[in-house]
Amino acid sequence: MKKYKIAMIGCGSFCGGQYLKDVPRIENAEIVAFCDIVPERAKAYAEKAGVKEWYSSIDELLEKCDFDVLMDATSIPAHHEINMKALAAGKHLFTQKPAGLTVEAVTEEIELAKKMGLKANAAPVHAMRHSNRKARQLIADGVIGKVTTARVQVAHGGPEYFQYRDNHPGWFYEPGSGALYDMGVHGLHYITDLLGPAKRVGVMAATSIPSRLIRTGKFDGEIIDASKLPDNYIITLDFGGGVIGEVYTGYCQRASRMPTMEVYGTDGTISFVSDPGEARPHLEVYFDKPGSGIRGWTRPMDQNERETFFCDSFCLKDLLDAIENDTQPVLSLERQRHLVEIMCAIPECIETGRILPLHTTF
Ligand SMILES: NC(=O)c1ccc[n+]([C@@H]2O[C@H](COP(=O)([O-])OP(=O)(O)OC[C@H]3O[C@@H](n4cnc5c(N)ncnc54)[C@H](O)[C@@H]3O)[C@@H](O)[C@H]2O)c1
Repeated sequence: MKKYKIAMIGCGSFCGGQYLKDVPRIENAEIVAFCDIVPERAKAYAEKAGVKEWYSSIDELLEKCDFDVLMDATSIPAHHEINMKALAAGKHLFTQKPAGLTVEAVTEEIELAKKMGLKANAAPVHAMRHSNRKARQLIADGVIGKVTTARVQVAHGGPEYFQYRDNHPGWFYEPGSGALYDMGVHGLHYITDLLGPAKRVGVMAATSIPSRLIRTGKFDGEIIDASKLPDNYIITLDFGGGVIGEVYTGYCQRASRMPTMEVYGTDGTISFVSDPGEARPHLEVYFDKPGSGIRGWTRPMDQNERETFFCDSFCLKDLLDAIENDTQPVLSLERQRHLVEIMCAIPECIETGRILPLHTTF
Protein backbone atom coordinates (compact mmCIF):
# COMPACT_ATOMS: atom_id res chain seq x y z
CA MET A 1 0.00 0.00 0.00
CA LYS A 2 1.35 3.43 -0.95
CA LYS A 3 1.91 5.72 2.03
CA TYR A 4 1.07 9.33 1.28
CA LYS A 5 3.30 12.03 2.71
CA ILE A 6 1.19 14.67 4.47
CA ALA A 7 2.21 18.25 5.24
CA MET A 8 0.02 20.24 7.65
CA ILE A 9 -0.32 23.99 7.56
CA GLY A 10 -2.06 25.93 10.34
CA CYS A 11 -0.88 24.58 13.69
CA GLY A 12 -3.79 25.90 15.74
CA SER A 13 -6.55 24.53 17.95
CA PHE A 14 -8.15 22.28 15.38
CA CYS A 15 -4.97 20.79 14.00
CA GLY A 16 -3.72 20.21 17.55
CA GLY A 17 -6.98 18.79 18.88
CA GLN A 18 -7.85 16.56 15.93
CA TYR A 19 -5.29 15.99 13.20
CA LEU A 20 -2.23 15.61 15.41
CA LYS A 21 -3.74 12.61 17.20
CA ASP A 22 -5.99 11.13 14.49
CA VAL A 23 -4.08 11.39 11.19
CA PRO A 24 -1.57 8.76 12.43
CA ARG A 25 -4.55 6.36 12.70
CA ILE A 26 -5.07 6.54 8.92
CA GLU A 27 -2.93 3.68 7.71
CA ASN A 28 -1.82 5.06 4.34
CA ALA A 29 -0.94 8.53 5.68
CA GLU A 30 2.34 9.69 7.16
CA ILE A 31 2.84 13.24 8.48
CA VAL A 32 6.18 14.60 7.26
CA ALA A 33 6.03 18.33 8.04
CA PHE A 34 4.23 21.15 9.87
CA CYS A 35 3.96 24.78 8.85
CA ASP A 36 2.63 27.92 10.57
CA ILE A 37 3.34 31.63 10.19
CA VAL A 38 4.13 31.52 13.90
CA PRO A 39 7.31 29.39 13.70
CA GLU A 40 7.23 28.19 17.31
CA ARG A 41 3.81 26.64 16.70
CA ALA A 42 5.11 24.66 13.71
CA LYS A 43 8.17 23.58 15.68
CA ALA A 44 6.10 22.56 18.73
CA TYR A 45 3.70 20.45 16.62
CA ALA A 46 6.61 18.81 14.77
CA GLU A 47 8.18 17.90 18.10
CA LYS A 48 4.88 16.51 19.42
CA ALA A 49 4.44 14.36 16.30
CA GLY A 50 8.10 13.26 16.22
CA VAL A 51 8.56 14.84 12.78
CA LYS A 52 11.79 16.56 11.75
CA GLU A 53 10.57 19.15 9.25
CA TRP A 54 8.79 22.39 10.12
CA TYR A 55 8.42 25.64 8.18
CA SER A 56 7.05 29.15 8.68
CA SER A 57 5.57 29.87 5.25
CA ILE A 58 3.71 28.01 2.51
CA ASP A 59 6.38 29.09 -0.01
CA GLU A 60 9.20 27.60 2.07
CA LEU A 61 7.18 24.42 2.66
CA LEU A 62 6.54 23.96 -1.07
CA GLU A 63 10.13 24.71 -1.99
CA LYS A 64 11.92 22.53 0.55
CA CYS A 65 9.63 19.66 1.53
CA ASP A 66 8.87 16.50 -0.42
CA PHE A 67 5.20 15.61 0.19
CA ASP A 68 2.01 14.48 -1.62
CA VAL A 69 -0.91 16.09 0.24
CA LEU A 70 -1.36 19.46 1.93
CA MET A 71 -3.84 19.67 4.82
CA ASP A 72 -4.83 23.32 5.21
CA ALA A 73 -6.12 24.13 8.73
CA THR A 74 -5.15 27.80 8.76
CA SER A 75 -7.53 30.59 9.73
CA ILE A 76 -10.32 31.17 7.21
CA PRO A 77 -9.00 34.23 5.29
CA ALA A 78 -5.72 32.41 4.52
CA HIS A 79 -7.29 29.36 2.85
CA HIS A 80 -7.66 30.38 -0.80
CA GLU A 81 -4.14 31.71 -1.39
CA ILE A 82 -2.56 28.69 0.31
CA ASN A 83 -4.83 26.27 -1.56
CA MET A 84 -3.98 27.80 -4.95
CA LYS A 85 -0.26 27.70 -4.22
CA ALA A 86 -0.40 24.06 -3.16
CA LEU A 87 -2.36 23.00 -6.26
CA ALA A 88 -0.07 25.00 -8.56
CA ALA A 89 2.87 23.14 -7.00
CA GLY A 90 1.28 19.76 -7.82
CA LYS A 91 0.04 18.83 -4.33
CA HIS A 92 -3.25 17.10 -3.61
CA LEU A 93 -5.27 19.23 -1.22
CA PHE A 94 -7.54 18.91 1.77
CA THR A 95 -8.76 22.28 3.02
CA GLN A 96 -10.65 23.35 6.08
CA LYS A 97 -13.89 25.16 5.28
CA PRO A 98 -14.50 27.37 3.50
CA ALA A 99 -12.12 26.58 0.63
CA GLY A 100 -12.52 30.20 -0.49
CA LEU A 101 -14.67 33.20 0.31
CA THR A 102 -16.43 33.45 -3.07
CA VAL A 103 -17.88 31.08 -5.66
CA GLU A 104 -15.23 32.34 -8.10
CA ALA A 105 -12.42 31.52 -5.66
CA VAL A 106 -13.64 27.93 -5.20
CA THR A 107 -14.14 27.59 -8.96
CA GLU A 108 -10.49 28.64 -9.46
CA GLU A 109 -9.43 25.84 -7.10
CA ILE A 110 -11.65 23.30 -8.89
CA GLU A 111 -10.26 24.27 -12.29
CA LEU A 112 -6.63 24.30 -11.16
CA ALA A 113 -6.99 20.88 -9.53
CA LYS A 114 -8.48 19.52 -12.79
CA LYS A 115 -5.75 21.10 -14.93
CA MET A 116 -3.02 19.67 -12.69
CA GLY A 117 -4.64 16.20 -12.47
CA LEU A 118 -4.96 16.52 -8.67
CA LYS A 119 -7.62 15.62 -6.12
CA ALA A 120 -8.97 18.21 -3.71
CA ASN A 121 -11.64 18.09 -1.02
CA ALA A 122 -12.91 20.22 1.84
CA ALA A 123 -14.37 20.01 5.36
CA PRO A 124 -16.87 19.49 6.94
CA VAL A 125 -16.74 15.72 7.16
CA HIS A 126 -20.42 14.98 7.94
CA ALA A 127 -21.39 13.39 4.60
CA MET A 128 -19.01 10.56 5.48
CA ARG A 129 -20.63 9.83 8.83
CA HIS A 130 -22.44 6.55 9.23
CA SER A 131 -25.60 8.42 10.34
CA ASN A 132 -25.62 10.60 7.21
CA ARG A 133 -24.93 7.68 4.88
CA LYS A 134 -27.65 5.62 6.54
CA ALA A 135 -30.15 8.50 6.43
CA ARG A 136 -29.42 9.08 2.72
CA GLN A 137 -30.07 5.39 2.09
CA LEU A 138 -33.32 5.38 4.10
CA ILE A 139 -34.56 8.40 2.13
CA ALA A 140 -33.54 6.85 -1.20
CA ASP A 141 -35.30 3.59 -0.22
CA GLY A 142 -38.50 5.57 0.43
CA VAL A 143 -38.65 4.54 4.09
CA ILE A 144 -40.14 7.90 5.17
CA GLY A 145 -42.06 8.43 1.93
CA LYS A 146 -41.72 11.70 0.04
CA VAL A 147 -39.48 14.13 1.92
CA THR A 148 -41.16 17.45 2.68
CA THR A 149 -38.95 19.23 5.22
CA ALA A 150 -35.59 19.16 7.01
CA ARG A 151 -34.57 21.13 10.10
CA VAL A 152 -30.95 21.41 11.19
CA GLN A 153 -29.20 23.11 14.06
CA VAL A 154 -25.42 23.43 14.35
CA ALA A 155 -24.41 26.11 16.83
CA HIS A 156 -22.36 26.67 19.97
CA GLY A 157 -21.54 29.48 22.36
CA GLY A 158 -18.66 30.93 20.32
CA PRO A 159 -15.00 29.91 19.92
CA GLU A 160 -14.07 31.95 23.03
CA TYR A 161 -16.59 29.92 25.06
CA PHE A 162 -16.82 26.55 23.41
CA GLN A 163 -13.30 25.17 23.64
CA TYR A 164 -9.91 25.66 25.26
CA ARG A 165 -7.60 27.65 23.03
CA ASP A 166 -4.26 29.38 23.46
CA ASN A 167 -4.57 31.18 20.10
CA HIS A 168 -6.55 34.42 20.29
CA PRO A 169 -10.09 33.74 18.96
CA GLY A 170 -10.65 37.38 17.90
CA TRP A 171 -10.21 36.56 14.20
CA PHE A 172 -13.42 34.50 14.22
CA TYR A 173 -15.36 37.80 14.65
CA GLU A 174 -13.69 39.74 11.84
CA PRO A 175 -15.17 40.26 8.34
CA GLY A 176 -13.95 37.42 6.13
CA SER A 177 -14.58 34.90 8.94
CA GLY A 178 -17.58 34.83 11.30
CA ALA A 179 -20.19 32.41 12.58
CA LEU A 180 -21.68 31.80 9.15
CA TYR A 181 -18.42 30.57 7.59
CA ASP A 182 -17.32 28.76 10.73
CA MET A 183 -20.62 27.17 11.87
CA GLY A 184 -23.27 27.83 9.23
CA VAL A 185 -21.26 25.78 6.77
CA HIS A 186 -21.82 22.69 8.96
CA GLY A 187 -25.60 23.10 8.99
CA LEU A 188 -25.71 23.81 5.27
CA HIS A 189 -23.54 20.77 4.61
CA TYR A 190 -25.85 18.53 6.70
CA ILE A 191 -29.05 19.68 5.03
CA THR A 192 -27.75 19.64 1.45
CA ASP A 193 -26.17 16.23 2.03
CA LEU A 194 -29.63 14.78 2.64
CA LEU A 195 -31.80 16.94 0.38
CA GLY A 196 -29.33 17.83 -2.40
CA PRO A 197 -28.50 21.29 -3.76
CA ALA A 198 -30.88 24.10 -2.75
CA LYS A 199 -32.62 26.36 -5.25
CA ARG A 200 -33.41 29.46 -3.13
CA VAL A 201 -32.23 30.95 0.16
CA GLY A 202 -33.68 33.41 2.70
CA VAL A 203 -32.47 34.40 6.18
CA MET A 204 -33.18 36.12 9.47
CA ALA A 205 -29.98 37.16 11.27
CA ALA A 206 -28.86 39.26 14.22
CA THR A 207 -25.76 40.38 16.09
CA SER A 208 -27.04 39.17 19.44
CA ILE A 209 -23.89 39.17 21.63
CA PRO A 210 -21.72 42.04 20.31
CA SER A 211 -19.19 41.91 23.17
CA ARG A 212 -17.73 38.58 24.24
CA LEU A 213 -15.69 37.42 27.19
CA ILE A 214 -12.91 34.89 26.50
CA ARG A 215 -13.45 32.02 28.91
CA THR A 216 -10.38 29.79 28.49
CA GLY A 217 -6.72 29.57 27.63
CA LYS A 218 -4.03 32.18 27.36
CA PHE A 219 -6.43 35.09 26.77
CA ASP A 220 -8.93 34.16 29.52
CA GLY A 221 -10.80 37.26 30.75
CA GLU A 222 -10.20 39.45 27.65
CA ILE A 223 -13.14 41.06 25.86
CA ILE A 224 -13.64 40.62 22.08
CA ASP A 225 -15.47 43.20 19.96
CA ALA A 226 -17.94 40.93 18.16
CA SER A 227 -20.13 43.70 16.76
CA LYS A 228 -19.07 43.59 13.09
CA LEU A 229 -20.96 40.49 11.91
CA PRO A 230 -24.16 38.62 12.78
CA ASP A 231 -23.65 35.77 15.26
CA ASN A 232 -27.18 34.35 15.15
CA TYR A 233 -28.86 32.97 11.99
CA ILE A 234 -32.02 31.19 10.90
CA ILE A 235 -31.52 30.27 7.25
CA THR A 236 -34.43 29.02 5.15
CA LEU A 237 -33.95 26.99 1.99
CA ASP A 238 -36.17 25.90 -0.88
CA PHE A 239 -35.09 22.67 -2.58
CA GLY A 240 -37.84 22.70 -5.19
CA GLY A 241 -40.54 20.05 -5.69
CA GLY A 242 -42.32 20.99 -2.46
CA VAL A 243 -39.28 20.42 -0.21
CA ILE A 244 -38.15 23.14 2.21
CA GLY A 245 -35.65 23.34 5.07
CA GLU A 246 -34.25 25.53 7.81
CA VAL A 247 -30.82 25.80 9.45
CA TYR A 248 -30.31 27.39 12.87
CA THR A 249 -26.67 28.33 13.36
CA GLY A 250 -24.29 30.74 15.05
CA TYR A 251 -22.47 31.43 18.28
CA CYS A 252 -25.46 32.02 20.58
CA GLN A 253 -26.23 28.55 21.91
CA ARG A 254 -24.78 27.57 25.29
CA ALA A 255 -26.46 24.16 25.20
CA SER A 256 -29.34 22.38 23.50
CA ARG A 257 -31.34 19.19 23.65
CA MET A 258 -32.82 19.48 20.18
CA PRO A 259 -31.65 16.93 17.60
CA THR A 260 -28.91 18.04 15.20
CA MET A 261 -31.25 17.27 12.32
CA GLU A 262 -34.73 15.98 11.57
CA VAL A 263 -36.11 15.07 8.16
CA TYR A 264 -39.87 14.82 7.76
CA GLY A 265 -41.52 12.72 5.06
CA THR A 266 -45.06 11.73 4.17
CA ASP A 267 -44.55 8.31 5.87
CA GLY A 268 -42.26 9.18 8.76
CA THR A 269 -39.36 11.08 10.30
CA ILE A 270 -35.62 10.57 10.60
CA SER A 271 -34.13 12.17 13.70
CA PHE A 272 -30.40 12.61 14.44
CA VAL A 273 -30.43 12.19 18.22
CA SER A 274 -27.52 12.50 20.65
CA ASP A 275 -27.96 10.77 24.00
CA PRO A 276 -26.31 12.48 26.98
CA GLY A 277 -22.56 11.86 26.74
CA GLU A 278 -22.81 10.61 23.14
CA ALA A 279 -20.35 12.54 20.96
CA ARG A 280 -22.00 11.71 17.64
CA PRO A 281 -25.70 11.47 16.85
CA HIS A 282 -27.43 8.18 16.08
CA LEU A 283 -30.58 7.78 14.00
CA GLU A 284 -34.09 7.27 15.32
CA VAL A 285 -36.83 6.68 12.75
CA TYR A 286 -40.60 7.10 12.98
CA PHE A 287 -42.65 4.96 10.60
CA ASP A 288 -46.24 5.47 9.60
CA LYS A 289 -47.08 2.86 7.01
CA PRO A 290 -50.70 3.22 5.93
CA GLY A 291 -52.43 -0.16 6.08
CA SER A 292 -49.88 -1.88 8.32
CA GLY A 293 -51.58 -0.84 11.56
CA ILE A 294 -48.21 -0.04 13.09
CA ARG A 295 -46.69 3.35 13.68
CA GLY A 296 -44.02 4.56 16.09
CA TRP A 297 -40.38 5.22 16.77
CA THR A 298 -37.53 2.76 16.30
CA ARG A 299 -33.79 2.96 16.75
CA PRO A 300 -32.61 1.01 13.69
CA MET A 301 -29.73 -1.40 14.04
CA ASP A 302 -27.36 -1.90 11.16
CA GLN A 303 -26.10 -5.45 11.25
CA ASN A 304 -23.73 -5.06 8.34
CA GLU A 305 -21.99 -1.84 9.21
CA ARG A 306 -21.03 -0.37 12.55
CA GLU A 307 -19.20 2.87 13.06
CA THR A 308 -16.47 1.74 15.41
CA PHE A 309 -14.28 4.79 14.93
CA PHE A 310 -14.92 8.11 13.26
CA CYS A 311 -13.04 11.38 13.39
CA ASP A 312 -12.63 14.64 11.50
CA SER A 313 -9.46 13.25 9.91
CA PHE A 314 -11.73 11.03 7.75
CA CYS A 315 -11.68 14.03 5.40
CA LEU A 316 -8.14 12.92 4.61
CA LYS A 317 -9.26 9.30 4.18
CA ASP A 318 -11.86 10.54 1.65
CA LEU A 319 -9.13 12.35 -0.28
CA LEU A 320 -6.69 9.41 -0.23
CA ASP A 321 -9.45 7.02 -1.39
CA ALA A 322 -10.21 9.40 -4.29
CA ILE A 323 -6.52 9.50 -5.27
CA GLU A 324 -6.15 5.71 -5.04
CA ASN A 325 -9.31 4.96 -7.04
CA ASP A 326 -9.25 8.03 -9.30
CA THR A 327 -12.75 9.00 -8.20
CA GLN A 328 -14.45 12.21 -7.08
CA PRO A 329 -14.07 12.71 -3.30
CA VAL A 330 -17.35 12.58 -1.36
CA LEU A 331 -16.40 15.96 0.15
CA SER A 332 -15.80 17.45 -3.29
CA LEU A 333 -14.98 21.09 -3.98
CA GLU A 334 -18.17 21.21 -6.09
CA ARG A 335 -20.15 20.42 -2.94
CA GLN A 336 -18.11 23.07 -1.12
CA ARG A 337 -18.81 25.65 -3.85
CA HIS A 338 -22.55 25.20 -3.40
CA LEU A 339 -22.20 25.90 0.33
CA VAL A 340 -20.07 28.96 -0.42
CA GLU A 341 -22.71 30.21 -2.89
CA ILE A 342 -25.38 29.97 -0.19
CA MET A 343 -23.14 31.72 2.36
CA CYS A 344 -22.27 34.47 -0.13
CA ALA A 345 -25.96 35.09 -0.88
CA ILE A 346 -26.87 35.43 2.80
CA PRO A 347 -25.49 38.97 3.44
CA GLU A 348 -27.56 40.19 0.46
CA CYS A 349 -30.63 38.37 1.82
CA ILE A 350 -30.08 40.16 5.16
CA GLU A 351 -29.52 43.56 3.58
CA THR A 352 -32.44 43.44 1.16
CA GLY A 353 -34.84 41.16 3.05
CA ARG A 354 -35.21 39.17 -0.17
CA ILE A 355 -35.10 35.49 -1.01
CA LEU A 356 -32.38 34.82 -3.57
CA PRO A 357 -32.01 32.15 -6.27
CA LEU A 358 -29.07 29.72 -6.22
CA HIS A 359 -27.37 28.36 -9.31
CA THR A 360 -24.60 25.90 -8.43
CA THR A 361 -25.09 22.16 -7.86
CA PHE A 362 -22.94 19.19 -6.90
N1 LIG B 1 -11.55 24.82 16.27
C1 LIG B 1 -12.48 24.01 15.84
O1 LIG B 1 -13.19 23.32 16.57
C2 LIG B 1 -12.72 23.91 14.40
C3 LIG B 1 -13.63 23.00 14.02
C4 LIG B 1 -13.79 22.81 12.70
C5 LIG B 1 -13.08 23.54 11.81
N2 LIG B 1 -12.24 24.49 12.18
C6 LIG B 1 -11.57 25.26 11.14
O2 LIG B 1 -10.17 25.04 11.20
C7 LIG B 1 -9.50 26.24 10.80
C8 LIG B 1 -8.57 26.67 11.91
O3 LIG B 1 -9.33 26.90 13.10
P1 LIG B 1 -8.62 26.88 14.53
O4 LIG B 1 -9.71 26.87 15.52
O5 LIG B 1 -7.59 25.81 14.57
O6 LIG B 1 -7.92 28.34 14.51
P2 LIG B 1 -6.57 28.78 15.25
O7 LIG B 1 -6.59 30.27 15.27
O8 LIG B 1 -6.42 28.05 16.54
O9 LIG B 1 -5.41 28.26 14.28
C9 LIG B 1 -5.14 28.80 13.00
C10 LIG B 1 -3.63 28.68 12.76
O10 LIG B 1 -3.36 29.06 11.40
C11 LIG B 1 -2.15 29.80 11.39
N3 LIG B 1 -2.11 30.61 10.16
C12 LIG B 1 -2.91 31.66 9.83
N4 LIG B 1 -2.55 32.14 8.61
C13 LIG B 1 -1.53 31.36 8.16
C14 LIG B 1 -0.76 31.34 6.98
N5 LIG B 1 -0.96 32.22 6.00
N6 LIG B 1 0.21 30.40 6.85
C15 LIG B 1 0.43 29.50 7.83
N7 LIG B 1 -0.28 29.47 9.00
C16 LIG B 1 -1.25 30.38 9.14
C17 LIG B 1 -2.24 30.63 12.66
O11 LIG B 1 -0.96 31.13 13.05
C18 LIG B 1 -2.81 29.61 13.65
O12 LIG B 1 -1.78 28.88 14.30
C19 LIG B 1 -10.60 27.24 10.45
O13 LIG B 1 -10.88 27.15 9.08
C20 LIG B 1 -11.78 26.76 11.26
O14 LIG B 1 -13.02 27.17 10.69
C21 LIG B 1 -12.01 24.67 13.48
